[in-house]
Amino acid sequence: MVNIKTPVIIINSKAYLESTLDNEVRLVKICEEIRNEHGVNIMYAPQMVNLAYIAKNFNIPCLSQHVDAIEPGAKTGYTSLESIKAAGAIGSIINHSEHVITFREAEFIINRAKNLELIICACADNINIAKSLAALNPEMIAVEPPELIGTGIPVSKAKPEIIEKTVEEVYKINKNVLVLCGAGISTGEDVKRAIELGAKGVLLSSSFVKAKNPREKLLDLISKI
Ligand code: G3P
Repeated sequence: MVNIKTPVIIINSKAYLESTLDNEVRLVKICEEIRNEHGVNIMYAPQMVNLAYIAKNFNIPCLSQHVDAIEPGAKTGYTSLESIKAAGAIGSIINHSEHVITFREAEFIINRAKNLELIICACADNINIAKSLAALNPEMIAVEPPELIGTGIPVSKAKPEIIEKTVEEVYKINKNVLVLCGAGISTGEDVKRAIELGAKGVLLSSSFVKAKNPREKLLDLISKI
């Protein structure tokens, strides 16, 4: 089992204009500096087109935002686990509510990732999906109610019960999985509350990627952990 330092903060830069290459470099530099200065386990999921450049040029663990359930070969436009590994990623987010996959695809990816020593953060819209994914034994499961994503309304305040219940139910199935949460996480207080509810970290995007002052925002996000 891979040892992931917790709490872990995964920043998913999605496909925002604020994370196109030159902008993404500025964001990653902030994450790298704050990770090094404060010793907080920040992982970064850049846009796929930026992954190799970011992973090779910055000292921060990178995840791809998605990976396809394929073996390498004649698969135009798809991305294999072998490709993200060669690009320098340590693993991938999968099944984000903005890029869902089937259970069989998740099973294929999680099993193949283990053979490649890549870690998987499997996203779940709700508790039942989280329980199904727990049986596949990913390293992390992030429960994220889609209706809160991008709203700035933190799941740790708006739906604390989904965090507590997901932690409880997932650990009944698999004690090795780290349960994270995401959606609307915007302040250090939101992160602190998520951890108090049993999450081992958070997945976040817009509060940092679209911040007027990303450095100030990230310092606030880690301020209470
Ligand atoms: O992957 C995390 C993301 O879906 C959360 O989005 O903008 O609410 O932090 P956001």
